[in-house]
Amino acid sequence: VVQGGMTGLAGGATPQSREVAISLELLSGVQEIDQVGMTLSALAGTPLQVLQEAAMQYNLVLPLDLAARGSCSIGGNIATNAGGTEVLRYGMARSHVLGLEAVLADGTIVNSMNKMVKNNSGYDLKQLFIGSEGTLGIITAACLKLVSKPIARATTIAVTDKFEHALELLDSLQHRSGDQVESFEIMPKALLDIVYKQFPDYAQPIQSASGFILLMEISSSKSDELEVDDSGKPALQNLMERFLEKALENTLITDAVIATNEAQRQAFWAIRENAPQATKQESWPVNTDISVRRDKLAAFYHHASDAIRTICKNCRICGYGHVGDGNLHFNVVEAEGGDPDWPQKRAPLLAAIYASLSEFEGSISAEHGIGQLKTDQLKDTKDAHYYRIMTQIKNTFDPKNLLNPNRIIK
Ligand code: LAC
Ligand code: ZN
Repeated sequence: VVQGGMTGLAGGATPQSREVAISLELLSGVQEIDQVGMTLSALAGTPLQVLQEAAMQYNLVLPLDLAARGSCSIGGNIATNAGGTEVLRYGMARSHVLGLEAVLADGTIVNSMNKMVKNNSGYDLKQLFIGSEGTLGIITAACLKLVSKPIARATTIAVTDKFEHALELLDSLQHRSGDQVESFEIMPKALLDIVYKQFPDYAQPIQSASGFILLMEISSSKSDELEVDDSGKPALQNLMERFLEKALENTLITDAVIATNEAQRQAFWAIRENAPQATKQESWPVNTDISVRRDKLAAFYHHASDAIRTICKNCRICGYGHVGDGNLHFNVVEAEGGDPDWPQKRAPLLAAIYASLSEFEGSISAEHGIGQLKTDQLKDTKDAHYYRIMTQIKNTFDPKNLLNPNRIIK
């Protein structure tokens, strides 16, 4: 069982009885940063944050970010094709990988350590290892594509009454900013209340009486972005202000705050990034990691919420996350004050969410992967031929089923 930073949420790195864990922790370090080609090569056990900071020293950015940055490792990020909060603009881990090295179960080293942007020389074997959750081989090193460091940023939290409004606002912000939206996250009020309750020492930059809060961030690496206009404000800040004014005028939002400094921006993000921890502290939530195409996302949200309400009237629906890329952690927290029947309600709730998801042709795992927790759902929902081909690939790479057995394919 291959272990990176062990921050995964699908049980992939959790050893079972008679399994042996292989830790990549000591295989750590940046190997090379190519400033001209804007690439970074590193060993698999290097923590994501170490890579982010190394790139930053050259005014470059590895555009992959998630709350576990301090402990997750790049090998694990790639093996699970990690998502996070910048997928909307930059794609998932897969889109940053130029090359990698992997070791198969029989010790064969697969050298796919390409460092060029273009390389069409035969099958692109690295793609098989990305997102394979350690079932095909152990990723030992990788070469990643970097982007220029943003010069300016505008971050805001706003309150909206309706889920539909969030999607309308996203469209509008993308158009206005010319696709400079880096993050667009949603949290329902029920979840905001849980975060404020569980982390009482945190700043509470916004209150919401109902509906949802949105965390929106735009950024630019254009050199003229810091130029101030007549009002004395940088261009991006101005763009965000005008966007919010219009949204208030059109009653798409009811309140908004813009971060005026980095500390405030971090305070906004702390609310969002600690949401999963807060729900865990509050109760034993039903967790999912689903995605639905953006034009069907609101309909799914309501459909699944109605289905949940038939099972538990007062449970707290906490569908939150990366609304910008259609990925929600559509979670349910038990009713405030506790529900003695909660343990029995969990399975029907999960089934109701997945039944709803299937009506909207969504994915059972948008970013967390299958691991050990979703193998049954995968088998139930994947096309039979597709599933058979996956099994054949596993048999080709690892005929003795030694690596991460019973993960993804059971
Ligand atoms: C998040 C994790 C749960 O988005 O994926 O907070
Ligand atoms: Zn997430």
